[in-house]
Amino acid sequence: MIIEPRMRGFICLTAHPEGAAQNVKNQIEYVKSKGKIEGAKKVLVIGASTGFGLASRITSAFGSDASTIGVFFEKPPAEGKTASPGWYNSAAFETEAHKAALYAKSINGDAFSNEVKKETLDLIKADLGQVDLIIYSLASPVRTNPNTGVLHRSVLKPIGGAYSNKTVDFHTGKVSEISIEPSKEDDIENTVAVMGGEDWAMWIDALKAENLLAPGATTVAYSYIGPAVTEPVYRKGTIGRAKDHLEATAFSITDSLKDIGGKAYVSVNKALVTQASSAIPVIPLYISILYKIMKEEGVHEGTIEQIQRLYQDRLFTGKEVPTDEKGRIRIDDWEMREDIQEKVAALWEKATTENLSEIGDLEGYRKDFYNLFGFDIQGVDYKAEADEMIQVDSLK
Ligand code: NAI
Ligand code: NA
Repeated sequence: MIIEPRMRGFICLTAHPEGAAQNVKNQIEYVKSKGKIEGAKKVLVIGASTGFGLASRITSAFGSDASTIGVFFEKPPAEGKTASPGWYNSAAFETEAHKAALYAKSINGDAFSNEVKKETLDLIKADLGQVDLIIYSLASPVRTNPNTGVLHRSVLKPIGGAYSNKTVDFHTGKVSEISIEPSKEDDIENTVAVMGGEDWAMWIDALKAENLLAPGATTVAYSYIGPAVTEPVYRKGTIGRAKDHLEATAFSITDSLKDIGGKAYVSVNKALVTQASSAIPVIPLYISILYKIMKEEGVHEGTIEQIQRLYQDRLFTGKEVPTDEKGRIRIDDWEMREDIQEKVAALWEKATTENLSEIGDLEGYRKDFYNLFGFDIQGVDYKAEADEMIQVDSLK
């Protein structure tokens, strides 16, 4: 069928299989162009289908010839209905990996559940024996704790008081003032339960208990800090508490891996347009101004550039992994550069509906957003019939 973007609020209800495939191929080409990385060879990526997780899977496979198992939660296609973008991304990734004679299998289901963990452990046991790198890149609004059966919902709210600032509707370009009510009693606890480190630790414990972690195994989860202007709703808000918990969990996981010489890291990444970040108020306006400045300064990166740099310049240099005073890897270093933040802060003050298309990179924001769903990608014929039912053996 002919597939067009269908928007509802901040999400796109359709995805384009060929656009998604082209997107994956472009990322693969980028990684190949940067040369080999002496990295891990047997890699588990949890949250492997979009955003930073997909970029991690691609960098492992095409930078280090790694065997990869990807876990994600995506919607397969149905007759007349497209799959979710991550499903098409993963189908394309597997196709390309197999063409390159690389092992790649995927598990599509709820990573928070005991069942999907068991299925993954069984697959590692049967096919890889052990893994030496585990990337934890989930972004989810909900989590059912498998031990208690309780469904937790994460919220994006300030703590202690309401927060007002500017935001943009990136579809229309309208800049407006929004006010977000402060979190209520259980909001922090619930957000930490979803986006904190508990599930990450459960994965590592389960892998270790079955002797599926290779000596010296490394695990990495992703975090964000960002500028003062988003602090009340991000780093000092409910999601920030979850990130604090995630970062603290890295230390307890490292402790638990002492006997095998393993290590857990958190990498603080740059703000980028993903399905997760476009739903956070205030952030899209910040990103559109940030993109403008970083592109002008020649230091703009997307997810694949970020993760390729994480692997090549931080994780797999053969030297000690450089971290900040809190033990975190920083690949948000260019975003947080003083000169860049000063310029962003000055433009933030000025931003209005009238001037944003000039002082911000709304076009770039929109393009990245459409690209997430396989649209607006160079070389794809969107007027042609596309096969929404495309099939890949190991993906159901
Ligand atoms: P994303 O939305 O692109 O990717 C989320 C992944 O998690 C997808 O593969 C999805 O299928 C998977 N997933 C969600 N729920 C699942 C479930 N129940 N079971 C199995 N898989 C599930 O998100 P993005 O932006 O790549 O985020 C990944 C991590 O990076 C998050 O921790 C996020 O906070 C962090 N991060 C994001 C930044 C951004 O600007 N987007 C900046 C810095 C860090
Ligand atoms: Na991801």
